[in-house]
Amino acid sequence: MATWCDLDSAVELVESGHRVFVQGACATPTPLIEALVGRGESLFNVEITQLHTYGPMPYTDERWRGHFLLRALFVGENIREATNAGRASYTPIFLSDVPALFAPGGVLAIDVALIQVSPPDQHGYCSLGSSVDVTRAAVDSARYIIALVNPNVPRTHGDSFLHISRIDRAVQWDGPLYEVERRPLNAVQKKIGHNVACLIEDGATLQMGIGAIPDAVLQALSNHRDLGIHSEMFSDGVLDLVEKGVITGTRKAIDKGKIVSSFVVGSRRLLDFIDDNPQVAMRPMDYTNNTLIIRQFEHMVAVNSALQIDLTGQICAESIGTYLYSGVGGQMDFMRGAALSPRGRPIIALPATARSTPGYDYEKEVMLTPIDGQISRIVPVLAHGAAVTTSRAHVHYVVTEYGIAELHGRDLAERARRLIAIAAPQFREGLERAAHNLHLL
Ligand code: COA
Repeated sequence: MATWCDLDSAVELVESGHRVFVQGACATPTPLIEALVGRGESLFNVEITQLHTYGPMPYTDERWRGHFLLRALFVGENIREATNAGRASYTPIFLSDVPALFAPGGVLAIDVALIQVSPPDQHGYCSLGSSVDVTRAAVDSARYIIALVNPNVPRTHGDSFLHISRIDRAVQWDGPLYEVERRPLNAVQKKIGHNVACLIEDGATLQMGIGAIPDAVLQALSNHRDLGIHSEMFSDGVLDLVEKGVITGTRKAIDKGKIVSSFVVGSRRLLDFIDDNPQVAMRPMDYTNNTLIIRQFEHMVAVNSALQIDLTGQICAESIGTYLYSGVGGQMDFMRGAALSPRGRPIIALPATARSTPGYDYEKEVMLTPIDGQISRIVPVLAHGAAVTTSRAHVHYVVTEYGIAELHGRDLAERARRLIAIAAPQFREGLERAAHNLHLL
């Protein structure tokens, strides 16, 4: 049975040499992280592993070198500087593969899980709330579980339940979860949303990745019918379509009628929506991101974004050159799953340009000069050190505000032509010249 205690006593279970899992997204258990780091002087070589988290990450501070090492499976804003400065490490991995890493004997077998759960119900079950993702695997295999028990954690359905007897140290907590508010969409994002919506038919099952573009796509779908959601994550954009009756899930091949996701990121309104809602099933990532599951949906549409794409169709979504920016995430899981689905559509949607960063030698890196403070995200070759997140053999549709390029089954020359046609007009001439120099055209 759980021992109820305060934060400092709870984290006493962590010993030197342990591997500690930290739950992520809105559920990031910051008070437990702070209590753990408060014990830092007496701990050595504690390894932390986590996906996308919010809030301060004090164990990445230089003063804790030798005490804590963060091995991140995704590089979010709160650890970007530390990871690029060598104070945290990054592991490129398909999210569908993470649960197996956490199992006993796995490469990242978990000793202790730090989580945040809803209070036990009348049967003694707490819920993992808004982040079931890889947390399910972590709590299933961890030797010890330390939990904040917080009435603000939504009691979600699906595979989210954890009996209180499985928790070793429980701390009563009543604090808000992290919330991410929607930003208004700009004209470019709206145009991309509209272009992507042209590729989506009624009855489609959708996966939406992270960032503003998924929201723009959802906003462009309000006249569609009977859409379903099977995604690694979703945000507030989905709520509007549920309220309008557009998302019904009635044509889903499996999990009919259900919105299936492994975590959510959004406002309190979204957290309230998933609370005790039988329409929403929160499932682990070895289910949501499993290509064997994804391919079963008829007309599965996966929409993900990218930082850079070369003229042959190689997609970089993880880094800006050598600078680590995010992670593999579920991009490849869903791109491949959608490609295998009957009439499936894997889509990469990105703005054609980005702001040019002063001091970065774009001309040398990608053979294109910035124009009016903008650089092209469609480039002759990827920047030095850029990671290929989706290979050119996996890519099907690329969408910008200028149109749609269908690349699947096309040779390198055709790919270059189609990608140049959806690049920003001021870069097309330079791209064409580079494509000739590279013998693509
Ligand atoms: N060169 C230089 N800077 C670039 C750039 C490029 N090629 N591309 C983007 N940037 C800059 C942008 O200007 C922006 O900077 P700013 O915030 O200072 O304006 C920043 O990088 C982020 O770009 P943006 O396009 O706004 O990112 P986003 O929030 O839409 O996220 C990804 C895009 C690719 C990072 C995001 O989709 C991701 O993490 N993908 C990987 C994981 C994944 O796909 N998971 C899917 C399931 S969740």
